[in-house]
Order: sequence, then C-alpha cells, then structure tokens
Amino acid sequence: MASGRGSNLRAIVSATNTGELSAVPAVLVSDHSSSGAMTYARQVQIPCFYLSQKTHPDPVELDSAITNIMHEHDVDIVVLAGYMKKIGHHLLEAFRHRIINIHPSLLPKFGGKGMYGIHVHEAVIAAGEKETGVTIHLVDEEYDEGRILAQQSVPVMDNDTPDTLATRVLATEHMLYVDTIKAIIEGRIEL
Ligand code: GRF
Repeated sequence: MASGRGSNLRAIVSATNTGELSAVPAVLVSDHSSSGAMTYARQVQIPCFYLSQKTHPDPVELDSAITNIMHEHDVDIVVLAGYMKKIGHHLLEAFRHRIINIHPSLLPKFGGKGMYGIHVHEAVIAAGEKETGVTIHLVDEEYDEGRILAQQSVPVMDNDTPDTLATRVLATEHMLYVDTIKAIIEGRIEL
C-alpha cells in the first residue's frame, strides 16, 4: 500500500525481479490515483487499485473493500510503503501481525502524529541529533507503535539540511526494507 512517490515500492519490486526476494508483488492499493506508486505499478503490470474516501466515502466500506482486495489477491504480508492513511480495524484484524510499515527515524524517537515526510528530518535537525535512522515495525491501532522488527542508524552531518538528510535516510530505507522482508520470508524475523 502506498500513497506517494513509490520509491520503496520500486526497491521491493526490483528485488523480487532480481530474485533477491522470493516473493510476488500481488497487488498495490493506493489512495491517490496518480501517485508515483500507481504509475509504476501500471507500468510493470502489477494489479493496482485506487481506493480512497472519494471512491468509498464510508470508512467502514473502504476498510472492507481494501481487505477484500488483499484476500482476492492471496496476500500474505501487507507492506506499507509510504501509505499515509490509518489502517482500518477490518484490515488489522484480518492481517494481525502481518502488516509492516517503514518509518524514517529511530522509533520511538520522532514518531507519532504529524511526524511524516520532511517533518521528521526537520525535527531531527532541530533537536541537534547526531544520528537518526530507519525503523521497520508491525502495524497496530496506534501510529508508529507496533513491535519493532528492524532498525538501522544513519549519521546526521553538521551541514545537513532536511533534504540532504532525507536523501541519505531514503537510501537506507530501500536496503533495510528489502533485507527485512527477506528475513521475514526466511524465518529469521518472526511476525
Ligand atoms: C518513506 O520515507 C517512508 O519511510 C515513509 O514514507 C516515505 C515513502 O517514500 N513512511 P516512497 O513513496 O517510498 O518514496
């Protein structure tokens, strides 16, 4: 599931193409019809669905529609790659301990409401941190609070701007997401 640019989606799908990940990208759900993620999924012919408050104004119906799509495509693990909406109860129940998310900081630092995108890196620099990083975690009812599965630190340089820091962290995101999914598939990380 992805809302935006889709660079993590690309990294994961590329790893399935090279054989680094023995997994199949079954389906993409996006809440933005023209997101980079949707455009990429169409290009590489991954089944993709635009589902949002616009297509399903009732949140319960939206949640059910997303859950049904996951079942119809035999999804084992739901990977959130920059999905900006809260996950509904139905999907959480159906995929309990099988929904993972990536966050561009060392959680629990710089997580929670409002801590997304460039805001995370702005806050890290404003706090004078010398290191930040990437966290992969299970998704539960609260933002950024599920069990942590993997973390990797990234140095903060004295001359970093939020943008330069974001670029360095993103490169680590791509590697850590693929490595973590691989470890889940191979049973080295238990969900
Ligand atoms: C990443 O920074 C990820 O950590 C956060 O959203 C961003 C998504 O970027 N959850 P992209 O769409 O994968 O390029």
